[in-house]
Amino acid sequence: MSYAIEMENLRVSIFEKEILKGINLKVPEGTITALMGPSGSGKTTLLRVVNRLIDLIEGVKVSGTVKVFGKSIMDMDVYDVRRMSSMVFQMPNPFPHMSIYDNVVIGARINGVIKSKKEMDELAKWALEKAMLWDEVKGRLKDPPWRLSGGQQQRLCLARALALKPRLLLLDEPTANIDPVNTLKIEEALRNIRKEEGITIFMVTHMPQQAIRLADYTVMMYDGKVVEGGPTEEIAINPKHEVTKRFLRGEV
Ligand SMILES: Nc1ncnc2c1ncn2[C@@H]1O[C@H](COP(=O)(O)OP(=O)(O)OP(=O)(O)O)[C@@H](O)[C@H]1O
Ligand SMILES: [Mg+2]
Repeated sequence: MSYAIEMENLRVSIFEKEILKGINLKVPEGTITALMGPSGSGKTTLLRVVNRLIDLIEGVKVSGTVKVFGKSIMDMDVYDVRRMSSMVFQMPNPFPHMSIYDNVVIGARINGVIKSKKEMDELAKWALEKAMLWDEVKGRLKDPPWRLSGGQQQRLCLARALALKPRLLLLDEPTANIDPVNTLKIEEALRNIRKEEGITIFMVTHMPQQAIRLADYTVMMYDGKVVEGGPTEEIAINPKHEVTKRFLRGEV
């Protein structure tokens, strides 16, 4: 099996406070893998390591090995690391001063790979279709993003992430702030993206039901450590660890 992410004894501390305490984790390529755990267990911090957004935090120290598609990312150029993955955050954060269209293609425009208007239009359409937003915005691509609903804005952020053509999508509770209808749309989009594009998806979720609906594998974190991980049925239906059982009962 090949892996999108492999972590060995990953430790992260911020101003001497240890946040991640020796993480060992593997995310198989081509899967949807969910990361669950109570608030403060270190899920966002772990995600930030994978595309080295962690570098931006003051007072941070990182040790251990992290490989993305077999490459050790600590020794790599940070821009090469960030080209492999793109991230969607908990709060929709489209660029407010840009049109819907420009929000999607901004990455391609900056890296200069695409030259013609036609190719750019195709990229925008492809990404918006994959994010299941195209039909709702095709007639208003020049509008500012704040005219969209929160759920539409989050799908726009998904389209923006996809337009970078990542091999790995990192999602930090992408549906935590949106309504159930939009949540199901995003879930369907993610299933298709995995199936049709082969993109590996590593997503944080607070909701065991979401992991059950979507994820092949689930990893459970608690207090800076991985407590257990494996096929979602085993973790979310037959957990071995007491912490996971308590989490599923809503007690932690
Ligand atoms: N920049 C920072 N400076 C200091 N402490 C931080 C920083 N970022 C995170 N922490 C601490 O690290 C721990 C883990 O935070 P993290 O955001 O990774 O948790 P989480 O599992 O994503 O939680 P949530 O479910 O609430 O999003 C917390 O105790 C948090 O206070
Ligand atoms: Mg978080």
